[in-house]
Amino acid sequence: MPKKLIYILAFESSCDDTSVAVLCKEPNDDLPKLVSLAVQNQDEVHAKYGGIVPELASRAHLVNLLPCLRKALTEAKLKIEEVSLICAAAEPGLVGSLLVGHTAAKTLAFLYKKDFVSCHHIEGHLHSILLTERPSFPLVSLVVSGGHTSLYELSSVYEWRLLGQTLDDAIGEAFDKGAKSLGLGFPGGAELEILAKSGDNLGYKFPSVKVGEFDFSFSGLKSEFMRILVREAELVNHQNLAASYQKALFDHLESRLRNGLESTGCLNLAIVGGVAKNQELRSRLEGLKSEGLIANFWAAKPEYCTDNAAMIGMTGYLRWSQGFRSELSDDVRSTHRPKLKKLSRG
Ligand code: KG4
Ligand code: ZN
Repeated sequence: MPKKLIYILAFESSCDDTSVAVLCKEPNDDLPKLVSLAVQNQDEVHAKYGGIVPELASRAHLVNLLPCLRKALTEAKLKIEEVSLICAAAEPGLVGSLLVGHTAAKTLAFLYKKDFVSCHHIEGHLHSILLTERPSFPLVSLVVSGGHTSLYELSSVYEWRLLGQTLDDAIGEAFDKGAKSLGLGFPGGAELEILAKSGDNLGYKFPSVKVGEFDFSFSGLKSEFMRILVREAELVNHQNLAASYQKALFDHLESRLRNGLESTGCLNLAIVGGVAKNQELRSRLEGLKSEGLIANFWAAKPEYCTDNAAMIGMTGYLRWSQGFRSELSDDVRSTHRPKLKKLSRG
């Protein structure tokens, strides 16, 4: 009997992006491929507040979800009846936001009697690399996004352990706050990167951050940025400040990453999440090859860096293929499950 195609329908709504994707696993392939992806951001809804307003995010997900579902299914020329697995991000994230995509996915799984898998959003980011790449393991993976900054060691696509994470803000949040204060749009990471290109990154001095060797902390750099803006007032050079701030954020990120790489002895590095779109960061990390700290470097494709359902479909498939299924009574969670172990040296 010919082996059949496995279609996966995935939902992502953990923060402010509503997304639905269809993936297909062909019998002779190791992993599913992306067939269609619909992503609707809510930048306009939140721009005037300079940050995400949770209640507005949940309401916008309600408006955006069905059009995204229709678009993904239409582009894939697929009926829900043909799907084998439905999956959705269930944690971590904004509870009201997560509820929208997760409940829609569970409802369809119930109506169409399909397998259902609740997914971990960060695991989705870690797996986003598999949409285009086949990295080697063990792999150290840096997640840099609007809501998260964390470093993981993956022994395989199924096994990951937390090495360190931010004690306060995520690096994307630090980019967005800086961008807002310079009068750029929201989210402003990409615009800040462009502004920084024409600036002198030694124009302003930022202190080095003193935290544990695997921890990240960006709140002090954010405060220093604000202090410089107030101190310099009209004299402030926006390009130089953007360039110096970006350098300070990346210096700190890289120092923790180096500790993680050295302590694990891992020579394979991947970078995922929205801030992984940053060209300066990509080339900086690529440069670690020349000093022999890493042998291989992979960065998620820019369109799969920010939140999207394609990465959730990959995670859902991997868990499902291991035999994992979620109950339809499963609920969403705002924080990480406590099973993650932190690394300590010595
Ligand atoms: O992965 P993502 O959608 O957020 C979460 O999952 O939390 O990433 C969004 C973040 C925003 O903070 C945005 O400013 C940042 O990624 N970002 C960038 C760049 N492009 C997006 N930050 C720095 N440089 C960029 N080029
Ligand atoms: Zn994310």
